[in-house]
Amino acid sequence: MNRIPTDPFTVDHDEIKPVEQKAAKPATGLRSVPEVNVEEPFAIEDLFFSRTDKRGVIEAYNEVFVRIAGFGGSELQGAPHNIIRHSDMPKAVFWLLWNGLKNGTPVGAYVKNKTKSGKYYWVFAIASPLGNGDFLSVRLKPTSPLLGVVSDLYGEILHAEKSEALSPEDSANRMMGRIQELGFQTYAMFQAHALFEEFEARRKTMGTKQFSDLSNIHTISENASHLRHEIALLSTRFDEAALLIANMKIFAAKLPEGRSTINEIAKNYDLMLRDIRNHLKTLDIQESFDGIWEASRDQNSFFMLCTSHLLEEMCKNFKDEGCLGGKTSKEDETHVLNKLRNTYNTKSISAVVHGIQSTMVIQRRVDFLRRMILGLSTIRIACRVEAGTLRDTAKGLDNIVARLDDFHDEIEEQLEKIQGAVNAILKGVDRSILGESE
Ligand SMILES: Cc1cc2nc3c(=O)[nH]c(=O)nc-3n(C[C@H](O)[C@H](O)[C@H](O)COP(=O)(O)O)c2cc1C
Repeated sequence: MNRIPTDPFTVDHDEIKPVEQKAAKPATGLRSVPEVNVEEPFAIEDLFFSRTDKRGVIEAYNEVFVRIAGFGGSELQGAPHNIIRHSDMPKAVFWLLWNGLKNGTPVGAYVKNKTKSGKYYWVFAIASPLGNGDFLSVRLKPTSPLLGVVSDLYGEILHAEKSEALSPEDSANRMMGRIQELGFQTYAMFQAHALFEEFEARRKTMGTKQFSDLSNIHTISENASHLRHEIALLSTRFDEAALLIANMKIFAAKLPEGRSTINEIAKNYDLMLRDIRNHLKTLDIQESFDGIWEASRDQNSFFMLCTSHLLEEMCKNFKDEGCLGGKTSKEDETHVLNKLRNTYNTKSISAVVHGIQSTMVIQRRVDFLRRMILGLSTIRIACRVEAGTLRDTAKGLDNIVARLDDFHDEIEEQLEKIQGAVNAILKGVDRSILGESE
């Protein structure tokens, strides 16, 4: 009997072993047909799904899968999923697929499949652990420009697999290297980006409205990266100011005794500057990612939300499709689809809630930063006054004070940009709470 772990995305890692090609169900009169370089067309609205056991043996499927793959329901039922494997697919992709599923992580991937008559069709598949050892894959028609990039990448990796006799794992590492060159630190980041691109490209072709939760998370995540950039710039400015103050301290040390006020001012300024630089570190919202299945909260939210919407659509479509053959009932499969959709929904909501909490923390820290900078500015004014009194005796101090004034103008400007990004994030958060779109 399958155990149901508390976290529906958690599976028993050790028990999962994909079915080898040779262990495939004895073909029910199936002959392996040579591949032909002809695409099997299907509509942008078509969504497929299949449910497999822990080894990838098909247990349930929908009508679209039967129609496009060209296999009869009885041929799919009980067959290993590699029944539709296309020889253009590198092993690396399936290594990543199984590695993710074993890790309890949903996996999104471009897959070129083979129909019964040897034609090909591309899908973007999202395979998810169901929590009881089974897996479910929902698939859509990929139409974004990323498909061309990935198709070329697969060609290159397949060539390397053959010419260098790479193991699936080595090949997956090679592919990860190339994915990183494309700008994605981890596979989870790549799949979140790819799913969002495909989801949006499909929606535009179908002419449907953008989901408000997705548009809001898009605004939030764009402004969060804006914010990170501006905070990094502000930190650099403060590093430069530390040098300026070091110069002022050297300058003050050279002054005759009895002229030490400027020295005290420089010391105070320096102390305040240090506090601000430490505070800035708490504003650094850069996350670090260890494994290939890690992504930022925003990226995970995109993935969860898109999958949740797709599963909802899949449920609706499935309702209108013909009856299932085989060992399962339409009610049972509808239940499985709905349950998975609810899991994604709950996870995406908790990711949004977490996002709201961290935005509030950032807002408070930016407010505090503003107050600290105001304090720093007061010390700077004291410095300017003292420089005025020392004009005749301390040549060169004017120049340092003028540079300090420039520095304060720059950080004021930078603070405005930071506040702008925080405001935009807060607006996105408000809209998410109210379920509104831009
Ligand atoms: C839920 C699920 C869906 C899958 N979908 C596909 C698919 O659409 N096409 C495919 O070739 N393999 C798919 N696979 C992977 C296959 O099980 C298999 O690993 C792959 O075809 C490689 O086969 P091979 O090891 O015989 O080369 C799926 C696996 C799971 C668990």
